[in-house]
Amino acid sequence: MQDLSLHILDIAENSINANATEVRIKISEDTGKNLLRIEISDNGRGMDEETLKEVYDPFFTTKCKRTGLGIPLLAQSARECNGDLTIKTGPGKGTSISAAFQYDHIDRKPLGDICETMIVLIASNPDVDFIYEHSRDDDSYALNTADIKKELEGVPITSPGIIKIIKDDISEWLLNKDDMIK
Ligand SMILES: Nc1ncnc2c1ncn2[C@@H]1O[C@H](COP(=O)(O)OP(=O)(O)OP(=O)(O)O)[C@@H](O)[C@H]1O
Ligand SMILES: [Mg+2]
Repeated sequence: MQDLSLHILDIAENSINANATEVRIKISEDTGKNLLRIEISDNGRGMDEETLKEVYDPFFTTKCKRTGLGIPLLAQSARECNGDLTIKTGPGKGTSISAAFQYDHIDRKPLGDICETMIVLIASNPDVDFIYEHSRDDDSYALNTADIKKELEGVPITSPGIIKIIKDDISEWLLNKDDMIK
């Protein structure tokens, strides 16, 4: 996988497969601590201890058409950058996956098109609430589709006009972020 936003898409799809109704994607870029942290949390079915033990193994899957590489690949990407991956989960307790990376590590993959990842998730799962929180040092952005849906008064969040507004809002913040002095 070339960039981290594709890893995020993959991990968030696990949450959706686990019947989550809320998925939180949190990206924290801390240049002072030279740390990038990505957290994906959900309120889905969670994993029992046995599943959790096996989940780090490539090719472990509970899905018939899947390959079981989502979590091992993200864990490997994190380890390659002096980081790690931790999982908090339990049956009925949801799942929270946190991956840490040395921010300036030479092998650290670029974040990639996180806007596209969020739009794909939001547009293909209208019944799931997504919370996207992204910070770099003191600058931060947050979007909660539950709040947006409340304002929409019945207009589907998947309608092209609404998707465009969300896309423009995320893009604008990302653009300003890239202008910041590093
Ligand atoms: N958020 C989650 N909630 C509950 N179970 C999960 C979650 N994430 C992963 N799992 C369990 O761990 C297994 C392995 O996940 P992983 O992403 O590594 O592979 P996969 O989703 O099965 O296949 P792939 O990602 O390659 O398509 C899943 O099949 C599922 O049983
Ligand atoms: Mg997966």
